[in-house]
Amino acid sequence: MKTYFGREQVVGLCGAGWGDEGKGKFTDEFAGEADVVVRAQGGCNAGHTVVIGEKRVKLHHVPSGIAQPGTVNVIGNGVVVDPRVLVEEEFSHLRALGIEVSGLRISGDAHVVMPWHRVLDRAREWSLGGRRIGTTARGIGPAYADKVLRGGIRVNDLYDAELFREKVRVIAEEKEKVVREVYGVSDAQIEEWMSGADQERGLWWRGGHFDAERIAESYLRWAEAMRPHVTETRKLLWEAWQAGRKILMEGAQGLLLDIDHGTYPYVTSSSCGAAGFASGSGLPPRAIERVYSVMSAYMTRVGSGPFPTELGTEAAIANEHAGARMSREEAVALAGVARDEYTLGKVIRHIAGEFGTTTGRPRRTGWFDAVACRRAVQMNGPDVIVSKLDVLDVLPVVKICTAYRYEGPSVEYNGKRLESGAMLEEFPADARILAYCRPAEMREVRGWQTDTGSCRTYRELPLGARRYLQAIEETTGARVRMVSVGPQRHQTLMR
Ligand code: IMP
Repeated sequence: MKTYFGREQVVGLCGAGWGDEGKGKFTDEFAGEADVVVRAQGGCNAGHTVVIGEKRVKLHHVPSGIAQPGTVNVIGNGVVVDPRVLVEEEFSHLRALGIEVSGLRISGDAHVVMPWHRVLDRAREWSLGGRRIGTTARGIGPAYADKVLRGGIRVNDLYDAELFREKVRVIAEEKEKVVREVYGVSDAQIEEWMSGADQERGLWWRGGHFDAERIAESYLRWAEAMRPHVTETRKLLWEAWQAGRKILMEGAQGLLLDIDHGTYPYVTSSSCGAAGFASGSGLPPRAIERVYSVMSAYMTRVGSGPFPTELGTEAAIANEHAGARMSREEAVALAGVARDEYTLGKVIRHIAGEFGTTTGRPRRTGWFDAVACRRAVQMNGPDVIVSKLDVLDVLPVVKICTAYRYEGPSVEYNGKRLESGAMLEEFPADARILAYCRPAEMREVRGWQTDTGSCRTYRELPLGARRYLQAIEETTGARVRMVSVGPQRHQTLMR
C-alpha cells in the first residue's frame, strides 16, 4: 500500500519555485491520509482546485482536506482571511456540492482583508507603472503591511461589533487619504475599482467615500457565518500533535515568492517556506518532521520578473493562449524539429498545458534551474518531490542550469563588489541582481524519449529519466523522494 506520510506524523509541502509547480496534486494525495490539514500563510491569492467525484471546486483559504469527511481543516494565525471570498464563494460552492464545512477551524488571530486593502493594492501597482509587481490584486500585501504595522483587524475583532464599527470608521478615513493623497488616484478611478464584484458592486462606496457603516454590516454578517469555526487553533494543533494525529502543513505559493528569501520585490508578502509553517500555525518547529519541496522538472513563471533559464521571452509568448493550445501530436512533432529556445519552451508549455487557470494566460517556461532550487533545499531541507517529469518525455536533450553569470552594471551586493562576468552559484534574493543573471553552466542530459506516464514504479522509469533525476540531486543537494509522471494518483512514484 502506498503511504505518503511514511513514518512521519507532521509533514509540510512547499512549492520550490514561483508557484504552479503542481503542488495541488500532492496536497490532495497527502491530505487523503491526514487527520488535520493546516494553511499557515497567504490568503485568497492562492487558488487550488479540489476534485470531488466528477466535480471540481476552487478553494482559496480552505485547506485541501475539506473534501474528506472527518478531517479537521485549520486556517492558522498566519493567514490573511477575506471573509467575502471565504463565505460567499468557498462556503457556498462547497455546500452546493454537499460538502460539510463543519470541520473547518479558523484562528481568531488571523488578520482580515478589508475592502481598502484591495484598493491600496491596485493603487500601489498603478502608481508603480512599469515597475509594478503584478500582484493578484487581492489586497494581500496591504493586509500583511497593516498586520506588521500593528494596525490590522483580526478575526476576533469581528465579535466586538461596537469596537469593530469604530475601527472601520477610523481606518477607512485614513486609507482613503492614502489612496487619494499619497498615490494620487482620481475619484473616478476609485469609484471604478469599488464597483467591481470583489467590492460588492459599489455597496461600500457612497458619495465619494468608503461607507464605513455598510462595510461593517457586511463583515459582521460574514462573521456570523464564520462564528462556529473560530477557535484557538494553536491549542487544537498542540493537542492533535500530542495525540499522534497526522498533520499536513499545506504550503501556498512557492519559495521564490517568499517575502525574505524570494526574488524581492517580486514576491508575495508571507513566508512561503518551511519556517512559515511554525510561525503561521503555532506548532513548534521541531514538530514538523519533514518538509517536501515540490519542484517541477522544468521552471515556470507567470507575469513579469526575472527568469534566468527562460526559453524564449515574455514578449514572444504573449500571442499564445489556452484557447489555441496545440494538440499533443502537434507539440510532439514540433519537438522533433525545434531548434530555437522559444520553440522548445512552447513545446513544454503546450504539452503541459501551462496556461493560467482563470485567465488562460501562457506561463513562461524554462530549463530546470538548480541555482534557484538549491535555495529550497537549503531552506526547507533535502526532501524533494519532482512533478511533471513526463512533460519532458519528448525532448531530445534536457538541461539543468548549475551556475549564473552576472552581466549587469558594477554594484555593491552582500558586502562585495559585483562586476559583470562574475559567476554566481548562490541564488540572489534580489530581483535587481537576478535580472542580469544568465545561465553560465548547463548540465546536459540526453533525452529519454520514452513515455514515462505508464511507469508504475520508480525503477520502471527509463534510464535517461533516472539520470536526469540524479543530476537534479547532484546539482541541488536534494534527495528525490517522489516523482510524478501524470495527473493521476497512480502516476506518483515513490522512491
Ligand atoms: P500578491 O501575493 O497578490 O501580492 O502577488 C505577489 C506576487 O506573487 C505576484 O507575482 C503573484 O503573481 C504571485 N502569487 C501570489 N500568489 C500566487 C500563487 O498562489 N501562485 C503563483 N503566484 C502567486
